[in-house]
Amino acid sequence: MPKAAVCTAVGAPVEIMDVDLASPKAGEIRVQLGASGVCHSDLSVTNGTLPVALPVVLGHEGAGTITELGEGVDNLAVGDHIVISWVPQCGACFFCERDQGELCESGSAAAMSGGLLDMTPRFSRDGLPVFQMAASGTFTEETVIPAIGAVKIDKDFPMADAALIGCGVLTGFGAAVNTASIRKGDSVVVIGCGGVGLNTIQGAKYAGAERIIAVDMVEGKLNTAKIFGATDTINASDGDAVGKVFELTGGRGADVAFEVIGLGATIEQAFQMTRRGGQAIIVGVPSFDVTLTLMPAMDLLVQEKQIRGCWYGGSNVHTDVPKLARLYQEGTLLLDELISARITLDQVNDALANMSSGEIARSVIEYK
Ligand code: APR
Ligand code: ZN
Ligand code: ZN
Repeated sequence: MPKAAVCTAVGAPVEIMDVDLASPKAGEIRVQLGASGVCHSDLSVTNGTLPVALPVVLGHEGAGTITELGEGVDNLAVGDHIVISWVPQCGACFFCERDQGELCESGSAAAMSGGLLDMTPRFSRDGLPVFQMAASGTFTEETVIPAIGAVKIDKDFPMADAALIGCGVLTGFGAAVNTASIRKGDSVVVIGCGGVGLNTIQGAKYAGAERIIAVDMVEGKLNTAKIFGATDTINASDGDAVGKVFELTGGRGADVAFEVIGLGATIEQAFQMTRRGGQAIIVGVPSFDVTLTLMPAMDLLVQEKQIRGCWYGGSNVHTDVPKLARLYQEGTLLLDELISARITLDQVNDALANMSSGEIARSVIEYK
């Protein structure tokens, strides 16, 4: 009976409790978690920004060891170390065949359902279902996930770093490398320098951006942004962040602007900060009631601006996870620098509360 962090009601503290875990069905695997990052989307479930079926085992950024295979799983083995993908990617549907695995038909439906590919969870308590966040649920000692939601990594790859790849790194780095069309020498703005935004910054650097302007309201986050490659910083609480970006970009605006918070106001700012002919990429997850007002339609044509949503960093997890792991092993991708606190499962409420503090990029739960 694994111990898990369960959201039982919006606005209530997360409860640490024992839950029942059923055996993996066909095409599924049981995983003993090694580590799980605490992401803003977990907080968004607890405060109601992301409405999901409750009660739910939180967590979707995890890595662990396979302990049991369901029927028919022949590409993985007990003992394999894996990164968990919160959009399981089948490799065979309309979207996967078009290299848009982040939109995978079966994976996306599962991720929204609170269950696995058959839409039912493997956790329960007193005979009642306990749902799994994003087809995973990683704030738990053990979980069961679809085998297509697992990507094998080397056994000597540190679990805490591997966990971060599963959401923050794939999402943030992928936004810059897969979704945006950054050219060498480009100027880029990243609004929001949390666990995801820092990865957009290092992705932009990797893609060849020359000027990387980090925008946040917390000075500590801006200092961390410099470690990840920001060349300029703007504290948005000083006002007129848009004007400052124009000053830094020859009065034109940035080639590419990323919003990595999930607020209507900052999405609109990202669009305003984008130069004529440039791209605004929306990475942050807003609440469902946010609607955008961008510009007069005529200006959209004349200015040739693009705005693009970016889900899960536009990632094919089966190829991007190994690529990111390699970049870390080569010393190109920073992962250790994202880990500000190593905590136990019992400390998850503190981690959710501390997320906005300047000292924290990511808190990572480590399981013994
Ligand atoms: N202007 C500038 N920065 C802001 C503002 C604002 N109005 N509001 C918040 N921020 C900054 C915070 O200070 C913080 O550094 O945005 C950052 C958000 O970081 P985290 O809370 O660590 O969130 P993260 O896990 O990075 O996720 C960001 O991506 O995956 C989604 O659901 C996730 O929408 C969330 C977003
Ligand atoms: Zn996440
Ligand atoms: Zn698919």
